[in-house]
Amino acid sequence: MSGVVDLHRISRIANRLIWALTIAFFLAGWKIHFAYHFLTVFFLLLTVMNFFYRHVQTEHTILRNFGILGQARYILESLGPELRQYLFSNDTEERPFNRIERSEVYRKSKAVDSAMSFGSALNYDANEIKIRHSMYPTPKEELQPFRLTVGEERGVESAYTLTKPVMISAMSYGSLGAPAVEALGRGARMAGIPHNTGEGGWPKYHLMTGADLIFQMGTAKFGVRTEDGRLDDARLAELSAKPEVKMIEIKLSQGAKPGKGGLLPKEKITAEISELRGVPMGKDVVSPPYHAECRSPAATVEFIQRVQQVSGLPVGIKFCVGNLDEVRTLFGEMTKQQVFPDYIAVDGGEGGTGAAPKPYLDGFGMPLLPALCNVQKLLLEVGIRDKLKVFSAGKLINAAKWVHGLSLGADAIYSARGFMLAMGCIQALMCGNNTCPVGITTHDKSLQHGFDVEDKAQRVKNYVDGVDHDFEELLLSIGVKDAAELSPSNLYVPPASIISADVLGKS
Ligand SMILES: Cc1cc2nc3c(=O)[nH]c(=O)nc-3n(C[C@H](O)[C@H](O)[C@H](O)COP(=O)(O)O)c2cc1C
Repeated sequence: MSGVVDLHRISRIANRLIWALTIAFFLAGWKIHFAYHFLTVFFLLLTVMNFFYRHVQTEHTILRNFGILGQARYILESLGPELRQYLFSNDTEERPFNRIERSEVYRKSKAVDSAMSFGSALNYDANEIKIRHSMYPTPKEELQPFRLTVGEERGVESAYTLTKPVMISAMSYGSLGAPAVEALGRGARMAGIPHNTGEGGWPKYHLMTGADLIFQMGTAKFGVRTEDGRLDDARLAELSAKPEVKMIEIKLSQGAKPGKGGLLPKEKITAEISELRGVPMGKDVVSPPYHAECRSPAATVEFIQRVQQVSGLPVGIKFCVGNLDEVRTLFGEMTKQQVFPDYIAVDGGEGGTGAAPKPYLDGFGMPLLPALCNVQKLLLEVGIRDKLKVFSAGKLINAAKWVHGLSLGADAIYSARGFMLAMGCIQALMCGNNTCPVGITTHDKSLQHGFDVEDKAQRVKNYVDGVDHDFEELLLSIGVKDAAELSPSNLYVPPASIISADVLGKS
């Protein structure tokens, strides 16, 4: 067909040309000048490779049919994400975070003004949630500083007070390398916000930074487990006594892979990991999809109480919303036993992870905003909203998103990937491969080389300060004096939005 490039024909010509050039340069090297033999060697190598691709290997059809030129397809395919990111994708196209969203975080983390000109680059279409401003904005001096005390409902002696609406959400040492953990911790300390350890075990690197910590206990209870994977009370008590550890979080599930455990292969269990996680070397370790102690609503509530008693600290649970009847029953059981976690962290199905199977990443878990609306509704319905706090996580990376979360029932915001971006994450989507090009989710020293802990810690702080500043400005424009006053009425939720039914109370 005219106008169509015949790649097959081109490859046939190229394949012949390669060995023809090999012979030509060999003759030139023999008859004209020895230097031509360098080219002979080069083309000889290409000829051998070509022969191998076309006649020896059987795995790749393209290479068998097209020889060395077919290799270009594999090279271009592997470069595809980078080419799309840098050359072809427009500013609103990329996922999970588009370029506009990412550059706002980059600018905040570098303390650069993020004002834009001319108009919004987003689709100002009918589906987007917008914030309602007031005709009578609040005067700045009337704005109340943010304060949220977790554990006050139970009268816990060590109740913990947040003075900013955001916290660093769970990311374990393991999924992150040590320099990233250190930068997050140091940034958190400077910004005055707590740092969740994730489920990576004894928080050795987190403890070095002096930040306030929320220790997360995953289903394998790394760091505080008995040999058979149940809770080791003595170990938890020892950890809870550390002055840096302010709260304990029991992870029931997470948005990126709800209902799924994990496997730590024995090859990855170094002496350090074995020590921090409390697992033997030389044996695969299975993280079950559930806590052995939490096989029913009653047992789950009993377990929450046990952790509260052993730790003496505020204790929260984290989950991604799935079956609403199960959530309702769990809340009912709390009422029955008169035992309440000090907070519930709602993780949206859009949540991030170091690694998760694709069907779980893409196909499981209620998105954050409807999940929040439903949890809020159920807490009110069961009559226990005043017994605990609600945290929320799921792409809440800027001030407008904080307002969305806080208006729909959250008391505070968790962010994981916002902080990764603040540390320079370029969304290379390689967190699970140990090849993170910016040294965040890798343990490869040569890739960590370019990651300057001090600079990144400062960026973490700048990011918190920048978004918090924007958030306060938004509160003034909304016309409230306190973040606690936010409610769904502060949002314009178009009928086509994912949460219109939840907010408007329709089924
Ligand atoms: C690299 C990475 C590691 C994570 N590790 C954990 C973990 O150990 N435990 C957990 O509950 N969630 C973990 N998460 C999920 C986050 O804590 C958070 O719930 C989720 O990413 C949603 O927040 P975000 O949209 O702000 O990232 C991880 C996320 C990322 C990106």
